[in-house]
Amino acid sequence: MARIAFISLAILAIAVTSLVPCSMAETLVVGDGLGWLVPPGGDLAYATWAAINTFTVGDVLLFNFTTGQQDVARVTKEAYLTCNSTNPISLKTTGPANFTLNTTGEYFFISTMDAHCPLGQRLAIYVTAPGPHHAPHPHHPPAAPSPVSPRAPVTYTVGDGLGWLVPPGGPLAYMTWAYNKTFIVEDTLAFNFVDGLQDVALVTKEAYETCNTNSTIQVWSTSPVKILLNSTGDYFFTSTYPRHCILGQQLAIRVVSSSGTTDHGSAPTSSIAHPPSSSSTSSPVTEGPVAGSPLPASSAPSRVLAGFFITFLSIFIAVF
Ligand SMILES: *[C@@H]1O[C@H](CO)[C@@H](O)[C@H](O)[C@H]1NC(C)=O
Ligand SMILES: *[C@@H]1O[C@H](CO)[C@@H](O)[C@H](O)[C@H]1NC(C)=O
Ligand SMILES: *[C@@H]1O[C@H](CO)[C@@H](O)[C@H](O)[C@H]1NC(C)=O
Ligand SMILES: *[C@@H]1O[C@H](CO)[C@@H](O)[C@H](O)[C@H]1NC(C)=O
Ligand SMILES: *[C@@H]1O[C@H](CO)[C@@H](O)[C@H](O)[C@H]1NC(C)=O
Ligand SMILES: *[C@@H]1O[C@H](CO)[C@@H](O)[C@H](O)[C@H]1NC(C)=O
Ligand SMILES: *[C@@H]1O[C@H](CO)[C@@H](O)[C@H](O)[C@H]1NC(C)=O
Repeated sequence: MARIAFISLAILAIAVTSLVPCSMAETLVVGDGLGWLVPPGGDLAYATWAAINTFTVGDVLLFNFTTGQQDVARVTKEAYLTCNSTNPISLKTTGPANFTLNTTGEYFFISTMDAHCPLGQRLAIYVTAPGPHHAPHPHHPPAAPSPVSPRAPVTYTVGDGLGWLVPPGGPLAYMTWAYNKTFIVEDTLAFNFVDGLQDVALVTKEAYETCNTNSTIQVWSTSPVKILLNSTGDYFFTSTYPRHCILGQQLAIRVVSSSGTTDHGSAPTSSIAHPPSSSSTSSPVTEGPVAGSPLPASSAPSRVLAGFFITFLSIFIAVF
């Protein structure tokens, strides 16, 4: 596959220029294997994809879709939040479509097709400048040391004052919270919640995306919960309480190494360290130093609620 070829090339390039910080432009396929469509899992599909990738000026977003069945429009933040497809900044109706990320800042994309955007076919990303202080792309294999600026471990209180609950503003609340935060090995996540009304479940990417909490990696039910991020990789948190996940009590983060060296010397002994992933679209663990890039901050838009989604599922199936 192209990615494998690319990764081989990247390894070669990194080997050759191991002392030069790597900031190669890259083509990112939006949604990976899912492509660009009304995501079966609703809003969170592209939010999750955005959260576990980083975007650098020069990168290309490739929206892979079937001409006539989908389209992609770059829009303002306001239009993104309200799914307003009048007057997009630009519109591409022929798939696959590329967008070159020319500048730093927030980019918002939606589908202008009927009901596609409210059903979750929308993407918000934050693009950072390339440069020596920016880490290689997470799709790259571990690189030579090129550290995220060293700092003392930080304890992050999830949601800050909001705590850990079904967020009133909908599912982007914790994505917004994680935006602009860099999670480095040895940092700690603190979850504050009301015992008996909430819990914290560490789950796989698949469980996170489908909100199936029948099986979890680990569950904590007594607040406060302090979780030491003792390994690089992607971590997915939700709640096992009925409907909490689907209503937006979800947090996905990527934890990176502070040294840039691989962590083989401290191989994880606990299942917490490497949440297994059954999805081929998730690169399992990235040990290279990368900046976390959760979603751009936004006032969380009102969510497509589960009932709404189920109501429209039949329409969605009919459309496809
Ligand atoms: C786009 O989607 C098609 C059909 O699913 C797939 O065959 C193709 O490999 C995808 N292209 C990319 C670049 O992912
Ligand atoms: C959608 O955006 C257009 C201009 O871009 C604006 O005139 C219109 O009022 C907006 N519609 C809604 C429902 O907000
Ligand atoms: C989009 O980018 C990919 C990878 O850079 C390239 O192979 C493809 O030809 C581009 N497609 C268009 C329509 O420019
Ligand atoms: C980036 O710049 C190119 C060339 O100037 C332009 O065609 C393209 O539309 C720009 N991309 C975006 C997302 O604005
Ligand atoms: C996120 O970081 C960027 C660049 O460091 C900054 O311009 C932007 O204002 C920040 N946004 C928030 C919500 O902190
Ligand atoms: C989860 O478990 C319940 C009860 O055992 C079962 O009814 C349900 O189908 C399971 N859900 C999934 C998605 O496997
Ligand atoms: C990582 O942290 C978890 C709990 O925070 C702990 O159970 C586990 O033993 C730790 N693993 C390592 C390798 O330190």
